[in-house]
This record gives sequence, C-alpha cells and structure tokens, in this order.
Amino acid sequence: SKNISSEGDKLKEELIQTLPQEKDWVGSTLYQYQGFWYPFFAPKAVIAFQNHFKAHESDIFLITMPKSGTTWLKALIFSIVNRNQFPPTQSPLLVTSPHELVPFIDLDIYSKNQTPDLENETFPNPRIFATHTPHGSLPSSILESNCRIVYLCRNPLDQFISEWHFIVNHFPINEHVRPISIEEGVDKFFKGIHAFGPFCEHVLGYWRMSLESPERVLFFKYEDLKEDISSNLKKLADFLGYPFSEEEMRQGVVEGISELCSFETLKNLEVSKTGKSDVRFKNSAFFRNGKVGDWINFVNPLIADRMVQLFEEKLGNAGLKF
Ligand code: A3P
Repeated sequence: SKNISSEGDKLKEELIQTLPQEKDWVGSTLYQYQGFWYPFFAPKAVIAFQNHFKAHESDIFLITMPKSGTTWLKALIFSIVNRNQFPPTQSPLLVTSPHELVPFIDLDIYSKNQTPDLENETFPNPRIFATHTPHGSLPSSILESNCRIVYLCRNPLDQFISEWHFIVNHFPINEHVRPISIEEGVDKFFKGIHAFGPFCEHVLGYWRMSLESPERVLFFKYEDLKEDISSNLKKLADFLGYPFSEEEMRQGVVEGISELCSFETLKNLEVSKTGKSDVRFKNSAFFRNGKVGDWINFVNPLIADRMVQLFEEKLGNAGLKF
C-alpha cells in the first residue's frame, strides 16, 4: 500500500506541475486549480481532501477567505459547542491556539497524511473543521450531507490589508525577493491573484449557497460580529443546534464566551504571544489589531475607490454590501 500511495503522490505532484502558476506577493508560487489561486503548500492537500473526505451529518465547517477572522470564529464555535464540558475559566483556549483546537482540514490534516483516520476519539462528534477551499471545490460528500457550514467574510479592503501584513511579515520569504508594495498587491488582487482568490468569487459561491440553503449555510460578516457579538453568538448557537437556554442567558454565558474569544483576551494569552502551533506561522501572526476600517491607513483614496467600485459591481449587485 506504501507503493500505491507514493504512486498516487507522484501523480498528484505531476498534476500540480501542469497547473497555471503565478508568483504571490513575496515571490513564492501560486497554483491555479479549479479557478482559484492556491499557495504552494495547498493544492496537494486540497486534492486529497476532495478525493477522500467523508462528511458526517453532525460536522461543522468554518469556511473563510484567509484573514477574515477565522481565528476568532474558530474560538467562538469551539466555545459554543464545548461549553458544558469547559466553562470559560477552564477553557482549553486559555492555553491552546484556536488553530490547534479547530484544524484546517486540508492545510493541517490532509497536508500531513493523504488518508488520515478521522473516525477516532481525536475527532469526537461534532467534528469542527476549517477550510479556505472555495465552494466549487468542496468534496461532494460535504455538499450531499446535511452538515453545517459557517462562512465568514470581511470587508475586502480590510481583508486585503490584513493579508498584506500577514504575508509581508510572516510568510516564508524568499530572501532574494523584495516583498511587494501595496500598489502592486492591489494589481494582483484585481486579477484575483492572491491566496484563495479571486476574493469576490470565493465570497459569492458561499453567499449564493447561504441564500439557497439557509439551514445549511450561515453567512457572517466580520463587521457584524464586531458590532453586535451577543446577538450574533445566539444566532450562531441556534444555527449549530446548540441554542443558549434562558438560564444560560441569565447567567451571562453568552457574554462569558464573547469575552473569552475577544481580540484583547486571545491576543494577550501566553500561548498567543509565544506559541507556535502550526509548522508555518507563529500564533502571534494571527493577531494584529483586529479593527474595522484599518485599510484607510494604508490604501490611497484613488486605489480604494477603484477597489470599492469593483466590489460594488460584483458583490453589491448580488446583494452583499460592506
Ligand atoms: P487584522 O490583520 O486586521 O488585525 P484570520 O484569523 O482569518 O487569519 O484573520 C486574522 C485577522 O483577524 C487579523 O486582522 C486579526 O487581528 C483578526 N483577529 C484575530 N483574532 C480576533 C478576535 N478574537 N477578534 C477580532 N479580530 C480578530
């Protein structure tokens, strides 16, 4: 079986080398697969995920474009689902990165093992996984099952600026390449050439699914969570099938979870400041300033106008406003 799997690996590598390529913002390779651009480490994992993943009805998928607040929503979903086992003062989140508690199914799991065992006590039901994989490339098993999908998106200008900081400061930089300027980044962004881009198509795939199947896909905006965490947490808990009881609301359980998962609390934990739970990034890389509208400090108004226009055309026309 070792031979078969290394044969399969070779075929996958060969397939990946035939995909269109571009350079990302720091000079490493992006591969275009099924219409979207993937960082060099992703295609093999995504293909294995597509080919082998078997969904459970109780699975919960958190799906995002990178830098949309994935870390935050990982913490929130974990806390909602496990609140009877771990009250906030004993939460594993106090000592463990949300990325360890809710792994990326493709980038963390299938990247290490093409046929992982996901049917054991390491992954108790409901299994909670995250992914950045676009709607059109999800394994059919997910589309056919009744599992829940929570999609989180963010104002594209803020997503872009957050991504720019993340890549320039935390990506494995090729020493011979000058990191890209914001203006050059915008050019690539317009062409959809950035990790898991094009942005609008990624968002629209899940936006449409949420309109067609609201019982399966809950669509959130980062800005809405920022504005009103309590009522959105209740909405999230209802959607996941873990509604807060009257008694819990009286006891302040909703506020307790919001507090525990807030930017300030998570960022200042020892595990966030010094830990490294992922082979690629330090935990601290996932906490910058967590603000709405920070793009204004980095993008000049002319460029911002062009971007806003694009988003208006593509997203606004589909009913999505930021
Ligand atoms: P900024 O770079 O704008 O600060 P992701 O988790 O998808 O990688 O997204 C990271 C972005 O979410 C970063 O945005 C980060 O600071 C912000 N973030 C991380 N944890 C957060 C939290 N608990 N509440 C709000 N924003 C958070």
